[in-house]
Amino acid sequence: ALITLRQLLDHAAENGYGVPAFNVNNMEQVHAIMEAAAEVDSPVIMQASAGARKYAGEPFLRHLILAAVEQWPDIPIVLHQDHGADPGVCARSIQSGFTSVMMDGSLMPDAKTPASYEYNVEVTSKVTEMAHACGVSVEGELGCLGSLETMQAGKEDGVGAEGKLTKEMLLTDPDQAADFVKKTKVDALAIAIGTSHGAYKFSKPPTGDILAIDRIKEIHARIPDTHLVMHGSSSVPQEWLEIINQYGGDMGQTYGVPVEEIVEGIKYGVRKVNIDTDLRMASTGAMRKFLAENPKEFDPRKIFKVATAAMKDICKARYEAFGCAGQA
Ligand code: G3H
Ligand code: 13P
Ligand code: NA
Ligand code: ZN
Repeated sequence: ALITLRQLLDHAAENGYGVPAFNVNNMEQVHAIMEAAAEVDSPVIMQASAGARKYAGEPFLRHLILAAVEQWPDIPIVLHQDHGADPGVCARSIQSGFTSVMMDGSLMPDAKTPASYEYNVEVTSKVTEMAHACGVSVEGELGCLGSLETMQAGKEDGVGAEGKLTKEMLLTDPDQAADFVKKTKVDALAIAIGTSHGAYKFSKPPTGDILAIDRIKEIHARIPDTHLVMHGSSSVPQEWLEIINQYGGDMGQTYGVPVEEIVEGIKYGVRKVNIDTDLRMASTGAMRKFLAENPKEFDPRKIFKVATAAMKDICKARYEAFGCAGQA
């Protein structure tokens, strides 16, 4: 059944676990996420970006999720809209049947330029008012995702050409977080602690100065009742990186967020953990390997099948590590 993000994260807080929120664009990802959840008895958060809706088309995306609800009636599923760039995007998701929306007011609607605090409070409050009237949950974001490592090296980092990020913006301020939650009434708050989207997060295994797990503890101490969200939380599996490069790929050396660090965050209020890149890497690696080893094969179902299996393994590992296995 579909449930709201608030319902799931309240249960997660009471029982001390976190839930991976996997991005979905197609049937194979939905299968992998759901098959893994069914095997370990985990609740599920599937999230779709505006780009996902554009890729699949709104009716196809909606029916993929409805198909999952029908095929796995015993698993609670949150259908969440990832990174809404403006209140209009959130409104369309509410109409489409999403049970949770993210208003990312940390950036302007171009999704590149850092926004002012006042702007963020204004657009996020607008969305909570609208969404709560419809029984839909809201995630807000305070602070900008971006690399502390790059910033410390004195290089410009960013969300884009216009994105002039300061070190202050890359770490969510605990007092401001308390004010933000009070003013906007969000159900969950995404925070910035040095992670970034995509595969290229860290040039070496991250240490505390570039992945600020301590900041989570400070924020949680200030707002213990708020459900925290970690974005950019792919672990960038080194084994998949090697397979991609071994079978014709060309990805640079890079490191993600170690699962143990996420588990530490879950002890301090992190309840939703956003993961997209890990499933992209697993499916691409599995398909590259299969195609290289089976050059005569031309049935795409055989190719997609290995991608689904590879993604499913990652999903299971995250459900187990984050403590949501057995909680459905
Ligand atoms: O936050 C970004 C997610 O990884 C979704 O990416 O906009 O390419 O669908 P996308
Ligand atoms: P990754 O790129 O680390 O998978 O992060 C995904 C994310 O935060 C989606 O909102
Ligand atoms: Na989100
Ligand atoms: Zn994100």
